[in-house]
Amino acid sequence: MAFMTIDTDTCNKDGICAAECPMKIIQMKDGLPVPVNGAEALCIHCGHCVAVCPTAAFTLNSMGPGDCLPVNKDLLLDPEKAEHFLRYRRSIRTYKDKPVDRETLSELIRIASYAPSGHNSQPVSWQVVYGRDDVVRLSGLVIEWMQSMMEHQPKIAAMLHLDMVVAGWQMGLDTVSRSAPHLILANGNKANPMAKPACSIAMTYLELAIPSFGLGGCWNGFFNAAALSYPPLKEALGLKDGMENYAAMMVGFPKFKYHRMPPRNEPVVQWV
Ligand SMILES: Cc1cc2nc3c(=O)[nH]c(=O)nc-3n(C[C@H](O)[C@H](O)[C@H](O)COP(=O)(O)O)c2cc1C
Repeated sequence: MAFMTIDTDTCNKDGICAAECPMKIIQMKDGLPVPVNGAEALCIHCGHCVAVCPTAAFTLNSMGPGDCLPVNKDLLLDPEKAEHFLRYRRSIRTYKDKPVDRETLSELIRIASYAPSGHNSQPVSWQVVYGRDDVVRLSGLVIEWMQSMMEHQPKIAAMLHLDMVVAGWQMGLDTVSRSAPHLILANGNKANPMAKPACSIAMTYLELAIPSFGLGGCWNGFFNAAALSYPPLKEALGLKDGMENYAAMMVGFPKFKYHRMPPRNEPVVQWV
């Protein structure tokens, strides 16, 4: 299949595809879009050329108009709804003792995969810790990491109140994973500088989607910190070949409903 195919009957020669291409690998020749020399090697397959064409005349070898979801104007949010959607999300720390089905967790991950990534590299690889027993086992390794931090890095351990988390765990209180039934992890290769921000952004997408499914979530910063620096946890996750955990999210059914959305600090903004 050719790298780029133009339906010359429907192309209206407006040049929008060339203007929108982030890599500038499309040029207009005799009124029609054509690839520049070496275009195929430079293309990041973001699909903007296909998605922006008003007449669906543009097809890339990796996707055509039929592979793209049409924009539904009825589903667009106005600013008030956008603010409400974003402010409605809460960190949930009390969960029902009820598992979420695998299809729903897969659907959350699928939606999160539309998050932006540098060079459209889409470097996130996901892990789901599905069984609560496994969540407990891995959280126990986070506690071990905390104990080693208390011994070797007492200042940081004190700053993070790790002693309280460990003491709570010993009394049966899980303030690592908050008794969530599941953990979703976003992993990336440390050799790829785009992987770390991509994991954070994709996990943010996932967290924002969670309430729409009647679920709750909370970032598991302790888990993520331990996975980055405690080899037994890394090993237990089976992370190999330069892979790192860059984000961890608890997921489950929330036990309680929130009725208000608390305020946050005024943003610090400098206009330059
Ligand atoms: C990177 C990151 C790590 C976090 N780690 C934890 C954590 O380990 N445990 C926890 O209970 N909450 C964690 N949180 C949740 C924050 O405490 C929470 O976002 C904050 O208190 C504001 O509450 P809200 O999310 O409901 O607006 C984390 C949040 C972020 C963004």
